[in-house]
Amino acid sequence: MKATMLRIAAVAAVALSANAAAAETITERLDDRKYFADGQAAWEKVCARCHTTVDDKTDQSVGPDLSVVEYDADTLKHFVRNGHLAMPAFAAAHISDALIVEIADYMAKNVYKGE
Ligand code: HEC
Repeated sequence: MKATMLRIAAVAAVALSANAAAAETITERLDDRKYFADGQAAWEKVCARCHTTVDDKTDQSVGPDLSVVEYDADTLKHFVRNGHLAMPAFAAAHISDALIVEIADYMAKNVYKGE
């Protein structure tokens, strides 16, 4: 009986700590400056999941290659806020206007391959 009670207490303790960890993760995700440290992090964690930057026939990315056009922040903002075909729209609470400017800057320097 005592062993059973101890086991129940142990299970409850594990469940409680798991809840605390989950709540912490959700709160961090709501803070976009914490979740994406900068334009590069946002590009890698969001955009690059769907967009390729290699012109490779074996590539199976759902989004188009974004290295062939240089996008300014306003154009990127249009696509990010409205979505496009299979691309979802992102709200400002997820990707702020300032972060879109940082993504555009990162893409111009590191993704765009030029003519
Ligand atoms: C869930 C997958 C997905 C994610 C995540 C995603 N995109 Fe897209 N994106 C797409 C698809 C699909 C298209 C449209 C493809 C087409 O025109 O057929 C697209 C189109 C675009 C275009 C227009 C390309 C053109 O010239 O036609 C831009 C610019 C763009 N995305 C930027 C971004 C940026 C910046 C991010 C990150 C904030 C991002 N996308 C995140 C899937 C995604």
